[in-house]
Amino acid sequence: MQIKSLDEYNAVYKQSVEQPEEFWAGIADHFLWRKKWDKVLSWDFKEPNIKWFEGAKLNITENCLDRHLEENGDKPAIIWEPNDPEKDTITLSYKILHEHVCRFANVLKKNGVKKGDRICIYMPMVPELAIAVLACARIGAVHSVIFGGFSARAIADRINDAECKLVITADGAYRGNKQIQLKDVIDDALIGCPTVKKVVVLTNTRTPISMIKGRDVWWEDELKLVGSECPAEEMDAEDMLFILYTSGSTGKPKGVVHTIGGYMVYTGYTFANAFNYQPGEVFFCTADIGWITGHSYIVYGPLSQGATSLMFEGIPTYPDASRFWQIVEKHKVNILYTAPTAIRSLMSFGTEPIKGHDLSSLRVLGSVGEPINEEAWHWYDEEIGKGNSPIVDTWWQTETGGLMISPIAYVTPTKPSYATLPLPGVQPVLVDEEGREILGNGVSGNLCMKFPWPGILRTTYGDHERCRQTYFSTYPNLYFTGDGCLRDEDGYYKITGRVDDVINVSGHRIGTAEVENAINMHTGVVESAVVGYPHDVKGQGIYAFVIYPNTHGDVELTKMDILKTVTRVIGAIAKPDKILFVTGLPKTRSGKIMRRILRKIAEGETTNLGDTTTLTDPAVVDEILAALQKV
Ligand code: WTA
Repeated sequence: MQIKSLDEYNAVYKQSVEQPEEFWAGIADHFLWRKKWDKVLSWDFKEPNIKWFEGAKLNITENCLDRHLEENGDKPAIIWEPNDPEKDTITLSYKILHEHVCRFANVLKKNGVKKGDRICIYMPMVPELAIAVLACARIGAVHSVIFGGFSARAIADRINDAECKLVITADGAYRGNKQIQLKDVIDDALIGCPTVKKVVVLTNTRTPISMIKGRDVWWEDELKLVGSECPAEEMDAEDMLFILYTSGSTGKPKGVVHTIGGYMVYTGYTFANAFNYQPGEVFFCTADIGWITGHSYIVYGPLSQGATSLMFEGIPTYPDASRFWQIVEKHKVNILYTAPTAIRSLMSFGTEPIKGHDLSSLRVLGSVGEPINEEAWHWYDEEIGKGNSPIVDTWWQTETGGLMISPIAYVTPTKPSYATLPLPGVQPVLVDEEGREILGNGVSGNLCMKFPWPGILRTTYGDHERCRQTYFSTYPNLYFTGDGCLRDEDGYYKITGRVDDVINVSGHRIGTAEVENAINMHTGVVESAVVGYPHDVKGQGIYAFVIYPNTHGDVELTKMDILKTVTRVIGAIAKPDKILFVTGLPKTRSGKIMRRILRKIAEGETTNLGDTTTLTDPAVVDEILAALQKV
């Protein structure tokens, strides 16, 4: 199912639009089904109601594990590289990974987990995280992985929203020179989570932790009590595989729901094509499994294709900025998939850290998470790819499950900072504010999709109306991405960034309303407004304008207090980079904050602020500028 030339791409693309069901059935035939589908697709973007491969029966872990055992059982499935370069690498062959997954699936069963139960996973980037995810899928439980940077409160909200029954965690995590006390955070979270009956705790950092009798059990002890045989649960294609929470323009994060059959087909297909993966190659995706990129391109996509997936516990700059290049050399990585923020951060160290590292194994470079600026694109191309590894700039979202607009390596001619062309099966349209389709080339608009693909989200957990409103109501009969986009004279797509109130910080989506809610929880804060501004490394930084009439102690200390509150409420990832205390916020007569003005001020603009006549009190703007002047 790999596309090999541009002519083939054009032909396949045409078929995928003209005969989508035949096209996707052809792709799905490459997977292992216990029973094939009765119907490839039924859909309606109004409700929305989208079903792929209805009537089919399968288990995704049989596709990711069992089916590779006979011929490739000894092939490495996961190579794990620790945070500390002095520690040993761990390699899990398909056979061993299969055994670990089955054993741990039995642990879950022993602890009362049944098909359909929701399981929260809050773990470091260790092989057991991948094992836990797959063990859930093995027995038909629904995983909800939460990134290690979220606070107890944020975890509790997510656990309660999904009514999770069990939590899988570890004592602690290593990240660079830091240790994160995961179990402590979980203990705090669980004070407010009545649905959680059991916690399975992996020993990782072996720091002292509390273990509550009757609730908490050790991963290692439990393993000794179960066998290694665990038949895969037979699942419907449209059964839920996982929930992944993501931020939007309203305050509360939503649980994006993906179902088994379509997600499996879509991640496998996109992985095999865009990255041009060849048997035996080592694929290194630097994301965390706590985000969609890790779900789709560390775990499910590569494993369903029998690939070798490299999983890294640490960060690019520890012990120093040569860590990625050291890993590429050590494991002879062929495909490197990382984020622009990492590239920009490494770029700031110059080329010294690259010197002396053999990067000749690299054949394909990938980028994801945010627009990649031209400077970073060229540096990646020249210094890392040495000019002969195509860059696949992959545009997609948590909601799309897998890559949507992306070059196919060695097929699609690339262009710096362009995600290039839609993959076959993907039908993007650009629309204007009124929802009219903008035809032709050399145009810009809001990016929508007019036809479903198998990886599309099915709902938002527990609140289908929210899913409809967020993605399917802005423009009738279209899926709205929230991104602005340019289609140039060649028909190439370039994503220009979010058009809603979402900030993309280091490739992480953060809702402005979410951060504002957190700031407003700080005592003494009257109101706040949060906007994004251009940041050299992070892509966007978070700028908070805060009305706080009486600072407690000095201004700098008060700012630090507010950061603490945000860290408590959401987590360190949502901490504003800049806080400006102001006396008022620019509002329209209907009470809406005019973010356009704040965005300009945050960008450093002080004169051309546009029309301010519709403000209730235009003098507020001068006061903000005066406050800025003072600091
Ligand atoms: C942005 C990450 C430009 C975009 C997979 C999207 C990108 C949001 C790119 C989704 C890219 C992702 N070029 N922008 N190659 N990839 N984005 O859900 O704004 O964490 O809507 O999924 O990231 O972020 P999410």
